[in-house]
Amino acid sequence: MRVLLTDALALTLAAAHAELLGLQRNVLQPTDRARGFAASHALMQRASAVDRIGGQMPDQFIYTSDDVLLMLDALLAGGGGVRWDDFFADRSKPCPFFVEWPDENLVAWLDEGMLTPGRVLELGCGHGRNATYLASLGCDVDAVDLSASAIEWARERAKLAGAPVSFQRCSIFDATFTAGSYDLVYDAGCFHHLAPHRRKDYAELVRRALKPGGSYGLVCFRPEGGSGYTDQQVYERASLGGGLGYTEDRLRAMWDKAPFSVRALRQMKKTDGQGPRFGEDFLWAMLAVREGPD
Ligand SMILES: C[S@@+](CC[C@H](N)C(=O)[O-])C[C@H]1O[C@@H](n2cnc3c(N)ncnc32)[C@H](O)[C@@H]1O
Repeated sequence: MRVLLTDALALTLAAAHAELLGLQRNVLQPTDRARGFAASHALMQRASAVDRIGGQMPDQFIYTSDDVLLMLDALLAGGGGVRWDDFFADRSKPCPFFVEWPDENLVAWLDEGMLTPGRVLELGCGHGRNATYLASLGCDVDAVDLSASAIEWARERAKLAGAPVSFQRCSIFDATFTAGSYDLVYDAGCFHHLAPHRRKDYAELVRRALKPGGSYGLVCFRPEGGSGYTDQQVYERASLGGGLGYTEDRLRAMWDKAPFSVRALRQMKKTDGQGPRFGEDFLWAMLAVREGPD
């Protein structure tokens, strides 16, 4: 063995294993976000040509918990995930959410007064249907997506609607924003494409972005909508299988504990595909509040 297994390394690996098995969720500390996805992309670039010959991972020296998380990012980056740039490049492909309408739950929450227009951060905005809708209501919208073709489409949509949106093309983990400045963080379909080991970073990102008392809206796969992979299988297969389904218990375990509390959690209502709202019944619609102050 080229690397001596020190006590620290053994502990790190044990902690990661416990985290993967969902046994000991507080063992790993929040990671250094700056080193998150961007660093893993850099790692993958290094890994791409020579190192991955024969499907081999590079021989990375693992010492800290962050090293483990980056290793897992790299493992999954080679796992045939959705190529979002290609995905949005063909706008004519049949895809349920390739529509111009906003989510039915988002419209309902605003109509029912559960949300009021304000400052919004949309995570994984795709081709911008929800961002544009919110901006057209007078919201001050920042929207982030890592796909260039999605952002290009989203910019066109917002311009056509005369609804100004500030777009950033990058990973949500690399987005720049003023902490504690948003009334609403909204995510339709991005969270269920994130790897299990990045959930904690994601929850921290949402917490950091929101004002105390701000809202978090989520649309994500129900169990029947996702790949059916367990968290452990994600790593065994090095793939999310097209997105992870969530049970109500798991969503509540993550979002119904301090500093968040769940205000509404229901199945999304299936719409007829003709508009003017988007809805599919294999998705959840959840609204949580970030309790405050810090
Ligand atoms: C299922 S699509 C949903 C798009 C849009 N929210 C909608 O509902 O129409 C998921 C989106 O999340 C984006 N995405 C996935 N992982 C991301 C990440 N780490 N950072 C930023 N965007 C991400 C993808 O590029 C894609 O646009």
